[in-house]
Amino acid sequence: MCGIVGYVGHREATDVLIEALKRLEYRGYDSSGLATLSTGRGKGRLRVLKSPGYISALEKRIKTGSSRIGISHTRWATHGVPNEVNAHPHMDGEQNVAVVHNGIIDNHLALKRELARKGHEFLSQTDTEVIPHLISEEYRHNGGNLFEAVREVVKRLKGSYAIVVLHRDHPDILVCAREKSPLVLGTGVNEGFIASDVTALLRYTNRFIFMEDGEIAKVAADGIHIEKISGGTVAHEWTRVDWSLEDAEKGGFKHFMIKEIFEQPRSLHQSQTGWRSDENSIPADLATARIIRIVACGTSYHAGMVGRYLFEKFTGLPTIVSMASEYRFADATSDDPLMIFITQSGETLDTIMAAREARSRGLKTVAITNVVGSTITRETDLTLYMRSGPEIGVAASKTFTSQLMMMYLFSSYLGYRMGYIKRDDLNSIKEHLRHTIRSVEGILNNTGPIREMAEWFSGSSSAFFLGRYVNYPAALEGALKMKEISYIHSEGYPAGELKHGPLALLTEKTPIVALVAGDHTYEKMLGNIGECSARGSPVVAIAPDGDVEIGRYTDRVLHYPRVDPLFSPIPISVLLQLLAYYTADHRGCPIDKPRNLAKSVTVE
Ligand code: F6R
Repeated sequence: MCGIVGYVGHREATDVLIEALKRLEYRGYDSSGLATLSTGRGKGRLRVLKSPGYISALEKRIKTGSSRIGISHTRWATHGVPNEVNAHPHMDGEQNVAVVHNGIIDNHLALKRELARKGHEFLSQTDTEVIPHLISEEYRHNGGNLFEAVREVVKRLKGSYAIVVLHRDHPDILVCAREKSPLVLGTGVNEGFIASDVTALLRYTNRFIFMEDGEIAKVAADGIHIEKISGGTVAHEWTRVDWSLEDAEKGGFKHFMIKEIFEQPRSLHQSQTGWRSDENSIPADLATARIIRIVACGTSYHAGMVGRYLFEKFTGLPTIVSMASEYRFADATSDDPLMIFITQSGETLDTIMAAREARSRGLKTVAITNVVGSTITRETDLTLYMRSGPEIGVAASKTFTSQLMMMYLFSSYLGYRMGYIKRDDLNSIKEHLRHTIRSVEGILNNTGPIREMAEWFSGSSSAFFLGRYVNYPAALEGALKMKEISYIHSEGYPAGELKHGPLALLTEKTPIVALVAGDHTYEKMLGNIGECSARGSPVVAIAPDGDVEIGRYTDRVLHYPRVDPLFSPIPISVLLQLLAYYTADHRGCPIDKPRNLAKSVTVE
């Protein structure tokens, strides 16, 4: 939620601030802004420019640049409507301090009242605006030490923040601090960078420091200095990130999402081959778990739901899946579960807080994430990486199938270590997974029928996605993808549940997407398809190649290359991603930036 950038160095700051910000647009895109300190005529003046809408709108307002230092922001509104006044950066009354902020300041109302009593006036409805006002007060009292002024101010903030501060009397440094919102520092030759994540800076550097909660940093062209907010210096190792710039660009595709869908044979392969090194990092005591609990949000939660069936099958352990936002408010049980947190970004605040809580209760915790150095990696005992490469499209695609891959690999490996399944079983699962990747390739090589179906589907206003067993979560995920990018109201259901209420909604205008795998649920699925057809609803069956029986129940069938049914959620999910994508494209939707959404949900 919200992306922030800071730059100081020898380049034109405006160019870097815009270029890097565009790569963070997935984090929020309702308004944007930047502040620079001019180095040419009008030296020493903070220039602030803001615009509602996408970053391209801000870019159009830029006339000239002549600065070597600045900050920028792309917003996902929490306090105040998305307009120019509420866009960041925010300034103090004297226009000396500019601040960009990602997060929520819970005690902003009390701070605002206190400042108002001292005569401060506020222009925006945001929680952020109190920060520059507090800094300017503190700065005046401490005799002009910006670093210490920011330190004293952030000590007073409650909630979550990543902030970057620019002061007109300090043309050589930026000060930044973090608490529960991500912040990375980068370095080049005589230049320093700050951003919400590494993809923003890949064009300039691949050497990063991941700041931790409770830290404050001074970033200058000639170096970076980090301290704890509570006092005391901090020495961080530089981390090298191997993602390339091309990974974070569209590469000729119309949208990031379709590029990322097409990348899945590679990302799945990377997840599977990368697992070999992760296996060795799994401590023996994980295999003593008696119960497993998976915690995640959104798409990652759906991956966890598939995982539940797999952990139960391969380890024999009862497995519970919880939404992170709910887990935290449930009563603790006396069980001693192995806790698995799935989060693509590693920054979803609900998931992070759930992990923190589990750890504080002394539970064993494992994170599954895609982003090296992300916050979740510091909140759990062990991190397993998905290795999907950067995902920019707001709707998760390749990271979902990588999460599924991780569920198959982790559950079977744990089961093997527990002695519940044999080495031969483990090898056979790995072979099935390799075959599943080939099945995904098959789908991507033949998208014509999916495009045609999407064209027909795009006229709908409401749809149901049905599945059973491992394909019940695949149905939930298919419906989520469809609703978030095409804006067609879509619900995922366990197919057997439809007759307990939702059937009342079926008409000839309500398409049903029925997920079929040739497993023990097959006959029951056919029955459910019959129930829907009998109510006049058009049914689109997603069925394996060679299934001729299905043609007797519906004439709308999309086939996927046959795999063992247990592994079918992977090809089926790719097919449903394509169906959602082409439907949304046909409807002219802004696929990479669906309205009201953001990729990284760093508010609770
Ligand atoms: C939907 C989507 C979201 C995320 C959710 C959790 O396409 O991407 O539902 O899955 O916000 O995000 P992570 O996995 O980063 O914790």
